[in-house]
Parts: sequence; structure tokens; C-alpha cells
Amino acid sequence: MCGIVGYVGGQSALDVVIAGLKRLEYRGYDSAGVAVLADGGLAAAKKAGKLVNLEKELVSRPLPAGSTGIGHTRWATHGGPTDANAHPHLDNAGRVAVVHNGIIENFAALRAELAERGHALRSETDTEVVAHLLAECHSATGDLAEAMRQVCRRLEGAFTLVAVDADEPDVVVGARRNSPLVVGVGEGEAFLASDVAAFIDHTRSAIELGQDQVVEVRRDAVTVTDFEGAPAEVRAYHVDWDASAAEKGGYDYFMLKEIAEQPRAVADTLLGRIDAAGSLTLDEIRIPATELREADKVVVVACGTAYHAGLIAKYAVEHWARIPCEVELASEFRYRDPILDHRTLVIAVSQSGETMDTLMALRHAREQGARVLAVCNTNGSTIPRESDAVLYTHAGPEVAVASTKAFLTQLVACYLLALYLAQVRGAKWGDEVRAVIRDLAGIAEEVERVLETMEPVRELARSLAAKNTVLFLGRHVGYPVALEGALKLKELAYMHAEGFAAGELKHGPIALIEPGVPVVVVVPSPRGRSLLHDKIVSNIQEIRARGALTIVIAEEGDESVVPYADHLVRVPATPVLLQPMVSTVPLQVFACELATARGNEVDQPRNLAKSVTVE
Ligand code: G6P
Repeated sequence: MCGIVGYVGGQSALDVVIAGLKRLEYRGYDSAGVAVLADGGLAAAKKAGKLVNLEKELVSRPLPAGSTGIGHTRWATHGGPTDANAHPHLDNAGRVAVVHNGIIENFAALRAELAERGHALRSETDTEVVAHLLAECHSATGDLAEAMRQVCRRLEGAFTLVAVDADEPDVVVGARRNSPLVVGVGEGEAFLASDVAAFIDHTRSAIELGQDQVVEVRRDAVTVTDFEGAPAEVRAYHVDWDASAAEKGGYDYFMLKEIAEQPRAVADTLLGRIDAAGSLTLDEIRIPATELREADKVVVVACGTAYHAGLIAKYAVEHWARIPCEVELASEFRYRDPILDHRTLVIAVSQSGETMDTLMALRHAREQGARVLAVCNTNGSTIPRESDAVLYTHAGPEVAVASTKAFLTQLVACYLLALYLAQVRGAKWGDEVRAVIRDLAGIAEEVERVLETMEPVRELARSLAAKNTVLFLGRHVGYPVALEGALKLKELAYMHAEGFAAGELKHGPIALIEPGVPVVVVVPSPRGRSLLHDKIVSNIQEIRARGALTIVIAEEGDESVVPYADHLVRVPATPVLLQPMVSTVPLQVFACELATARGNEVDQPRNLAKSVTVE
């Protein structure tokens, strides 16, 4: 939610900042803006809409060349997506510029105070007050980092701020509370950004900032303090992927690339976690086995697609580890006074590691004494930093707003965790655990097979481009898959799409069925739990009798569904609990193709942002 870049070094700041913003546009695309320090002054440009609008503006009205600058791509919170509300925001003298990610909750009081002191504020944003406060503090102290500390002490809410001041042409200052900010350290140059992707072309040396810290970067120095000015401890790390991972690599959209990368992402997430004997080795779970044995409840908290991964985790945790598991939307969790104590194991699932609701939920859980384990895809992000332990997924950078490969790897991590709990708690014998691991190890290949057979799904999607509604039905682990299929379609195709537990059909949703309404049905394996399978086959007949166009996702060899499927999508046979690994993939392809057929932007759907860093 909002992407931020800052640069100081020997290159053209404008070029570096714009290239960085391109990599961060997934975080928001309501407007974009830049400011550079040049010729003893400050020059800025900003434009509503996508970055391309700003680029056009810079062609018709070029900025002077400078080697210190900042930039911003916005997901609007306070104030609509207009030129005036675009960042950077400047003080009245035009000497200080600031960009912001987050929400400053006490901005109204600060605004009134500034107005009384004669400041003229020109936007409707919460951010603009910071530019004016920084200018006041800077004129008193002559030190931008100190000014930033003084201002941060007055702010309430969540904020990452990055600022420059024309009086300090070789300095960029940043501050971080709750929202992400990383430092990139190059040769004679330094970067500040919401995400390492913004500077990965220039350096893979990064520094992770902690909560409530202020950083001052110069060409050859990085100084980090807390908000009071005391030196702060930081963690330097090496980014273990390169620039090509953050590029489309010949695909039309990042989403297509990320769907195609799923077999590798799944395999990478298993890598190093299975020993030569085929047993599970999760060294990174630093929560003592005694505590895991004593845990009397697992609670998964997450948002969006990660929440759907959590819903599937519940089936695995309860079935394999025999421990009660609740799954809750992080945004609801802490407001309902959940019962938590030191025997509760909370699993926070998040691709970005920055989702504010998930972060707040885990903080709440830890305050109540619960142990928190993060399942996360982003090294060094806030959620794993604040958890007791972390199981990283190895999906690589996910850029498309709609999550795909992160979801499959979250499932893998959750399966591993459930097995690990089963192992530690003695709910499964070693050879039983190894048998599931063997199945999991074969899944990447099965995902590859699904991907090879997607052309009919794409064709089907194109034929449905004019429909208004698509419904999704599932049972057991197929139910969260149905929810995920519907979410993908809403996000990308902007269609009315809903997922239902097939058993609930007759309690309301069946009233939505009218002739021609497409209904996607995720059919469980006929093996193992055949009762479940037979019930959903009846459900398909019920909707078909009412005119639904049935799109049936069923495993290879399941012939019982053939007479009732207007369209049949085959997925490889897998153990019951692992089926979401293959049945989700056609739904991702379906949504992506439908979005394209409807002329929508696949990677940057309207109104959305990939990383939701405000509540
Ligand atoms: C946003 C994204 C979703 C994602 C959700 C949770 O809504 O668009 O794709 O599932 O946030 O994000 P997280 O980073 O916590 O997994």
C-alpha cells in the first residue's frame, strides 16, 4: 500500500527513482510523484493515475538533473486520487519534500495547529502536515534527521516517511513505524524503499529497519537511531534473488509468470526440509517441542488469499496432528476478545509479511501470552520479525496483485507444519509422516501437469466473458478452494463471484441459480472419503436441473461426474488433503483469462494493492 523510494548517490536520482517506482507499482497506482534536489533547490512533479502519466509529464516538463531524490506511488486513503493529493508533499517554501505510506491518525489536530501558525495546506491528505512540521523543526535544528525524530514523536498511527530538504542536498531521511522500509547499500550510493525490488538492479546488500527507527542515508553512510536519537541495532542481509526474478521474463503479465512458476516455487519450499531418509526437518521452528506438545489449540490468522490457505491448513492440522484449529480473518480476530494463553499456537500467514491486520492480530496474540509462528514469503519483513518463529515460503518475489504462487507455497508450509505438529505430538508414526512427505514431494510435478492442460480452461473463460455471475461450490478442502476461485474472479474480472460450501446450497445459494449461470464445482476425490464425493455429485445434479452451466473440476478417472459436467476440467489424482494444490491452479488460469477477455488490467486490478499496510 503505497510504494516509496529514496536515492542518494552518483547516478541521476530521477532515473533511479522512476525505475524503482516501476517495481513498486504493485503497491498502489492511484498517483505517482518524484522530487529531486538540484541547483540548491528542490524540484517536484506529480500526477494522478499510473506512473506512466508522471513519465509523460516529465517529458513535457523535465526536472533539473540531481543525484538525490525521492518518489512515491500511491494507494489513496485520505483524499481522492488527484494531482494535488499525490505525493511528494512540500512545505510552503518548497524546500522540504516528503512521501508517506500509512495513515497519520492525529493529522486533523496537527493540521489545525499548523493552520493557526499560518501554514497554508493545499491537499486533503494526512501526509502534508509532515512536510510542514519537518520544515519548522528543520529550521530550528538545521538537521533533517533530528527534525524527523521530533516530528515522529508527535505522530500517531502507521507511517513510513521518506524526506529530503534542499538545505541538505546529500541526505535522504526515512522513518518507520508499522509500515515497511528497507535500506539498500551500494558503492557510493544508498537507497530507501518499501521493498528491495526497488533497488535490486543496483545492490543486493540490504538493511532491515526496526520499529520506530529513523534512518539517515548519505552516499557512504547509513545512520539509524530510535525516535529519541539513541543509536539503534539493525540487521544487514543479502537479498537472495536477483533482478530477473522481479521481471516479467517474456510473459505478458506477472500473474502468468507467477502461475507458471508454481511447480518450482512448491519444490523450493520443500527444499532442505526433508532429509535423506525422507523425514521432516524443520530446524527453523524454534519453539521448543515441549511447548508444541502442550499446545491445546492452533489459531491461524491471515487475510485474503492467505486466509484461504489457513482454512485448508485447519483440515490438515486437525486430521494429522489431532489438535483443535481455528482460522480467523486477522481483521476480526483481535476485536472479539479471543481466548488465548501460553498454550495457544498462533500461525500468522502472510505473503508480504506487512499486512497490517495480520500484524496487529499477532501482536495481540503475543500480548496474551500465545506463541506465534509466521508463514511468510518476504525475508526480513515485520510479521516474521515480530513472531517467535518463522517458516519461510520460497515462492520468490510475487508482483501481481492477485496471489498465486504464494498461495500454493503457503499450503506447502502449512502441510509441513501440520505434519511437524503430528510428529512432535506423536499423533502420527514416522512412516506415516514420511508417506505424506512422499506425496508432497510429488506435487510439484502434478502442478506442472495441470499447467500443461490449461488451454480448454482459457477457451472456456473467454466464452464466459459476458456473464455477470460465476458461483463456486466445494466441500471439505474444496470449500476454501471455491472461496479462492471466487476471490480471484472478483479481484481480476470484477464479476460477481461467490464461493459456497456445497452443503449450504439448499440453505439459500440455490436461489441464485437460473438458466445459464456458470457454477464451478470442485469435486473431492472419490477415494478415501467417497461419501463426500457422492454428495457433491448430487449437488451438481441439483444445480444442473435448474439450468446452471456446470464446470466440474474432478480428478482423472472419476467417471461419475461425466454425465453432469457441461465442462470437465481434469486434475491429477492426489491424496484428499492435498487436492487444493492442483484444483486451485485451473481457477487461477480461469480468472486471469477472463480478466484479459474483459479488457482488465491483470497485474494491477482496480482499487487493489498487493500489500495492505493500513487497517
Ligand atoms: C491483499 C492482496 C492479496 C493477499 C492479501 C493478504 O489483499 O491483494 O493477494 O492475499 O492482501 O496479503 P499477505 O501479504 O498478508 O499474504
